[in-house]
Amino acid sequence: MNKALLVFWPEKGNVDSVGDKIIKAFEEFEIKKVSILNLNKELLEEYDNWIIGGSTVGSHVWEDADDSNRWFEFFKLLNQVDLTKKVVAFYGLGDQILYPHHYVDGLGVFMEEFEKRNANIVGQWSTEGYQFYDSDGMKDGKFFGLALDEDHQPEKTDERISGWITLIRKDFK
Ligand SMILES: Cc1cc2nc3c(=O)[nH]c(=O)nc-3n(C[C@H](O)[C@H](O)[C@H](O)COP(=O)(O)O)c2cc1C
Repeated sequence: MNKALLVFWPEKGNVDSVGDKIIKAFEEFEIKKVSILNLNKELLEEYDNWIIGGSTVGSHVWEDADDSNRWFEFFKLLNQVDLTKKVVAFYGLGDQILYPHHYVDGLGVFMEEFEKRNANIVGQWSTEGYQFYDSDGMKDGKFFGLALDEDHQPEKTDERISGWITLIRKDFK
């Protein structure tokens, strides 16, 4: 069976629950879901297909590259793994009404960190159907991964997940 690793943070919020929805919808893949707190190099090396999920909770969190941000520990761990053989897709949670100038900015951080390590990044997603002004998580009308808004468009989440999976399943090994 095909297999993939779903790496996510934080636990017990929307990123976590949407991760379960993605796993359910991606039925022909066996997906191991692991919080960034429980990762290690061996696990990362075992899987060639990765899904990375996170939320944007204020730009200061991303700019603060100290140990209080768990993502930066994860990015450091990435330096020990050859990402050129990995196929990587992102999903990001955000709130487009309260943060219309920074909607899913975190997808931009994922893009930067994986692009500089030469990963094969797949799953860019159209910005149509969203209401926001700006985002660091997009380029040329496409988000760097699946953008979701459980605060203001939860009714669109299932449909978006299934459309996105149709897209990335072609690229996963
Ligand atoms: C303090 C705080 C700051 C936030 N900043 C942003 C932001 O800059 N951009 C955005 O799109 N969403 C922002 N959000 C919304 C969250 O990303 C959104 O509610 C998400 O679903 C939370 O998922 P989680 O519970 O898994 O972290 C913010 C939420 C909080 C509580």
